[in-house]
Amino acid sequence: MDTTATLFLPPGGSTIAGEVDALFYFLVYASIVMFGIVLAGMIFFGLRYRHRQGDAAAPTAGISHNTKLELTWSIIPTILVVIVFFWGFNVYLKMNVVPKDAMEIKVTGQKWFWTFDYPEGANTVNELVIPAGKPVKLLMSSKDVIHSFFVPDFRVKMDVLPNRYTIVWFEAKREGTHNLFCTEFCGTGHSSMIGTVRVVPEREYAEWLETASNVGSDLAPEQYGERLFVSKACVTCHSLEGKSVVGPPLNGVFGKPVALTSGGTVIIDENYIRESILEPQASVVAGYQPVMPTYQGILKDREIDALVAYIKSLQ
Ligand code: CUA
Repeated sequence: MDTTATLFLPPGGSTIAGEVDALFYFLVYASIVMFGIVLAGMIFFGLRYRHRQGDAAAPTAGISHNTKLELTWSIIPTILVVIVFFWGFNVYLKMNVVPKDAMEIKVTGQKWFWTFDYPEGANTVNELVIPAGKPVKLLMSSKDVIHSFFVPDFRVKMDVLPNRYTIVWFEAKREGTHNLFCTEFCGTGHSSMIGTVRVVPEREYAEWLETASNVGSDLAPEQYGERLFVSKACVTCHSLEGKSVVGPPLNGVFGKPVALTSGGTVIIDENYIRESILEPQASVVAGYQPVMPTYQGILKDREIDALVAYIKSLQ
């Protein structure tokens, strides 16, 4: 559980780091000792039995094997390998069995950044903020190619795949900042897929979460709505210049009547916009396909209010 940097490894910042390091250094030093024994033996026998002037040919009759020696060089390495297996399996289980009380954060990898979504509504890009002393479970997936989530200080690394969830968990010991990398070569922007993990005391985390979950509260509803219109991708289907794209244009429509595919007419007001966001198939504007996805569960009331205010302002 040492937190200082060692010969081959950066400072350990998670509860598992010490155990990973111990196993790693056991393997390194055991390999060095083995290497030393083999090398010393080679040199010793090379010198001791080197060819000298006038030596007779080596006798071969009666020499077949040495049982004691062969058992020794079989049994000792076997014991070492078995130790490493059980030791490694034990650490592997600890790294893979998520504690029940772990808090969960959704991680999305995409070319070329990381997004972190908190259950409380906050989301961040390239910065994971977590409380110290609490187990954190990351539920990860990719929007495009294979990425790999790696925090060297925590000794955790896990591939992040499209169409599948992978999980990694850790518990940061104390406050501090740690580097976050993508370790799968995912394209030209691979090297820029870096971020930070910021570990803060639990109380500070609660405050941060509160603020981060209310992004936009400092903006006027129209301004916040304008941002959401882009970030939630409304802009890809709705023109603001009177053009028909996939969906109808949204500028200058507020308060005006519009014909529906079902035959009737509706006045575009706050309730109609809200309904169109949450139940897009309920009243489709004539001339358009019912292809809009529902934003039920994706947008919060505050966000819908802001979008309504924004569309209202587009006269
Ligand atoms: Cu993502 Cu490399």
